[in-house]
Amino acid sequence: MSIVTTPEVMAPDATELEARVQELLSRMTLGEKIGQLSQVNGPWAHEGIPEDFAEAIRRGWIGSVLNAVDVERVNEMQRIAVEESRLGIPLLIGRDVIHGFRTIFPIPLGQAASWNPELVREGARIAAREAASTGINWTFAPMVDIGRDPRWGRVAECLGEDPLLASRLGAAMVEGFQGDDLRADDAIVACAKHFAGYGASESGKDYAATFIPERELREVHLPPFKAAVDAGCQTMMASFSDLNGIPATANRYLMTTILRDEWGFDGFVVSDWDSVHQLTVHGLTGSDHESAYEAAMAGVDMEMASRCYIEHLEWLVQDGRVPIERVDEMVSNVLRVKLRSGAFESPYRDPALFPVPGNEEHRASAYESAVQSGVLLQNDASSGRPTLPLDLDALDRIAVIGPLADEPGEQLGTWIFDGDASVSTTPLTSLQEVCAGRCEIEVARGLETTRDRSHDGFPQAVEAAERADVALLFVGEDAILSGEAHCRADISLPGAQAALIEAVAATGTPVVLVVQAGRPLAMESVAGFAQAILYMWHPGCMGGPAIVDPLTGARNPSGKLPITLPRVTGQIPIYYAHRRSGRPPTPESFIYIDDIPPHAEQLSVGNTSFHLDVWYRPLFSFGHGMSYTDFRYEGLRLERDSVEIGEPVRVFCDLVNEGDRRGVEVAQLYIHDQVASVTRPVRELKDFQRVELEPGERRTLEFVLPPEAFAFVGRDQRTRIEPGRISLWVGRDSDATLRVELELTGETRA
Ligand code: NOJ
Repeated sequence: MSIVTTPEVMAPDATELEARVQELLSRMTLGEKIGQLSQVNGPWAHEGIPEDFAEAIRRGWIGSVLNAVDVERVNEMQRIAVEESRLGIPLLIGRDVIHGFRTIFPIPLGQAASWNPELVREGARIAAREAASTGINWTFAPMVDIGRDPRWGRVAECLGEDPLLASRLGAAMVEGFQGDDLRADDAIVACAKHFAGYGASESGKDYAATFIPERELREVHLPPFKAAVDAGCQTMMASFSDLNGIPATANRYLMTTILRDEWGFDGFVVSDWDSVHQLTVHGLTGSDHESAYEAAMAGVDMEMASRCYIEHLEWLVQDGRVPIERVDEMVSNVLRVKLRSGAFESPYRDPALFPVPGNEEHRASAYESAVQSGVLLQNDASSGRPTLPLDLDALDRIAVIGPLADEPGEQLGTWIFDGDASVSTTPLTSLQEVCAGRCEIEVARGLETTRDRSHDGFPQAVEAAERADVALLFVGEDAILSGEAHCRADISLPGAQAALIEAVAATGTPVVLVVQAGRPLAMESVAGFAQAILYMWHPGCMGGPAIVDPLTGARNPSGKLPITLPRVTGQIPIYYAHRRSGRPPTPESFIYIDDIPPHAEQLSVGNTSFHLDVWYRPLFSFGHGMSYTDFRYEGLRLERDSVEIGEPVRVFCDLVNEGDRRGVEVAQLYIHDQVASVTRPVRELKDFQRVELEPGERRTLEFVLPPEAFAFVGRDQRTRIEPGRISLWVGRDSDATLRVELELTGETRA
């Protein structure tokens, strides 16, 4: 429970707030204004605050500090800003609080696999509370870039490949960080990033250029940002990337036309680290002077880390190139957020008033988040009984193999500045606990790290597997293989892990793969060696119990893939909502040469869209995820088969738990607009529900699709809804087969 307070004074209404902004603005010098637009990096190796830094705060030359996490120092900086600067404007203290602060939750992509907005909101709430206890009042999260290229290391930080899923979860994160009242001491300002299109970087390489057609920008990349704005997100971060020839940091169309004019955003935009300066490196400008001009005029209100605004904005104003009105607008945007954040009334933090970061309640939430992020990809039952869950009492010995069974740091994943690996519980520790007195565990690592290529440890691993009833292989990616600037050209299992799996499988002992990774890995070459695969992403500090409980059946997996799992890297980009093509492949249109897949080459009978050397479908589809119970969908029906454009559509479907244990299913609703004036994706997720059912229980699910669910961006790049037939599926994943047809009637609505 939080015992921190909310300022007693009422939140100012909009008019009062604007009056306060204007009043402050009217008293500011140009230097002080530019100060508010400058964010400076603030960690120092030594104690205290360097005098020149303190003096800069005192003079009002710094609006925000990032990466300062020592509460005493932060309070002192705030004291100088509030008590010693002329206008007493508090600082925003920014930090990358991405998936937890001290208590590390699963990476965002893992959290997205829960398809559970409430849980994601709670994770952000806890992260906010822990971060706020050190004086942080602004996080650079959520990252709501759409991730359709898993080579990109930053897919780890995103909320998956789908705009609807990312919108719902991104909005939930914003609500979690900002809380019910942004002025509360345990709320922090959120920042939706990276505006926009960063996820589309060419060849999945960080910072590379993006080329995004207008329709795709508006239908795929922008919706999660809009959802964040609608959820009250106060700040946005401009992307590093070049969008269609204009770097996002200088992209007026994005930051002014869309964000301000269309969406009415009234918070502020911060650049990414050094990205104003980098406009020269892009070759858009020839000097920092021009970079300051371009960024300011395009819509970047605050500059992070580089000094183009500090050094050039005053001069640009004096020369009349940047109107003072524009500077006033930028400063107003920053002040508005500062006023809304409560920092004026309550600039200091006392950690003693906060729950202790990393406490049991927070760890319990991290555990729940990690359990729900786990996706059971396959679970062979050909022997008459599914491989998982393991019946510990029926097993004599378990072999624990692989480089990630006992790696407290690796399981945390990327962006864990403030996490503490020493408090992680690893899968091995948890297994030892639950197996004590029931069955033996034999550990044989096989490989030192996931990147290790040596086979020296194989014999020991193979012998351990030979002696065991089941081999648990903990494989995946070390934390360093994903995250910013950590992209991979080949996203199969790194090092000699595939060979290790093959060697262990050759013993004939059943193999369970537990994968911890920062991205979906291309696992076609190994999936066939495993009887079961549990995909855990980087699960965070509670990875141990969150992995072991599903393995033993103490918990029933319910995660669903938020991103497609390719067979091989060469299939990328591969995502469920693709366009169909004029020559789509079908299962019937192939003959194989040589062998059966995956080792075969295939020939299409009739020319269709496929690769010769890989089956055209992904290894596991978007939305896929199994349970220990069996869910059946039936009775999909519409309230009315024909609906006038502009009216909501009600869809019903019965879900039955046919298995013998309680389980959670994420029921997913997809549509396809059969004929439209622009081609439409083969499927689009339009709604989902998490449903918990007892064995034998049947529930009628109701989905209500708003009229906009059928909207798309037309040839004129404007949103429209056209009459015609819509296919509609409800089911367990994006391959759902239960379908009904809806007729949308009436005139096209533009
Ligand atoms: C660069 C990253 O792109 C951004 O996401 C992060 O918030 C900033 N650095 C600050 O650390």
